[in-house]
Amino acid sequence: MTTQGISVTKLSGHIGAEISGLDLAHLDDHDVETLHALFLDHQVLVLRDQQLSRDQHIALGRRFGDLHIHPMAKGPEGYPEIFPIEAGQNSSNDPKAIRSGKQAVNGGHWHSDVSCDAQPPLGSILYLHEVPDVGGDTLFASGYAAYDALSPAMQAFLEGLTAVHSGEATYRLYYGNQPAQDRSRFGVPSDKPYPEAVHPVVRTHPETGRKSLFVNRGFTREIVELGHAESQALLEFLYRHQETPEFQVRVHWAPNTVVLWDNRCTQHRAIFDYAGQVRRGERVTIKGDRPFLQRSDDTSPWQLVG
Ligand SMILES: [Fe+2]
Repeated sequence: MTTQGISVTKLSGHIGAEISGLDLAHLDDHDVETLHALFLDHQVLVLRDQQLSRDQHIALGRRFGDLHIHPMAKGPEGYPEIFPIEAGQNSSNDPKAIRSGKQAVNGGHWHSDVSCDAQPPLGSILYLHEVPDVGGDTLFASGYAAYDALSPAMQAFLEGLTAVHSGEATYRLYYGNQPAQDRSRFGVPSDKPYPEAVHPVVRTHPETGRKSLFVNRGFTREIVELGHAESQALLEFLYRHQETPEFQVRVHWAPNTVVLWDNRCTQHRAIFDYAGQVRRGERVTIKGDRPFLQRSDDTSPWQLVG
């Protein structure tokens, strides 16, 4: 599809589009409106050969909303809104090292970003400057497609459930060696060093009104209304269901690729298959709302947000 010089190429049946003809450093209001509409339609947008300064990257994020400061990761000096991504140095192909988990990379498991926050991010804008010759792709999966593919009986059952999302397992791995006083610099109380929140298992997207599955391996710990064994079995089923290849897109990066994703209806996984090479860039993250579910038996009129 081509509209006013902007070309849109869908990347899979349910999720993702590559956009050309937009310079993210110089968007006018109409461009932003177009980008936002594409973002809601495709959930993940890929734009190649972009040149964004750090300030322009932050300004782009602010066109979508206020920016999120990561609860654990420290931004570069003077840029708390920037979440640095850097992996691959000192890594090896030694299977023992890989199995030990010591070579884990940020986002190397399925997750939606910071879903352990009471108000998880609306979305993220990742700009990679340096990528491996081969590898380092990112998988994205559509929570809409996963929800839509469930039986009506399962959809109705899930509507009554909420789940605990905790940052502990993920953040202990990456930031656990930082002293407590360092963690508290990011607004995390020292008596509860890792963020935790309860969210509906199915959430209603505040802008599209569509329903999406909202549990992920990285942060979801337990379904509140079920027994432990029930909870673990159901979560494992939901994770595997969401990871169905038909609900996914696999994004291949090149230097200066920017990817925007809607964190409210997708999850993603960074593939670590580039031992010895560097994958480096920066992410800007947009603040989101508290997840909610408008139940199917709620007949009050739907109000679109924004
Ligand atoms: Fe992520």
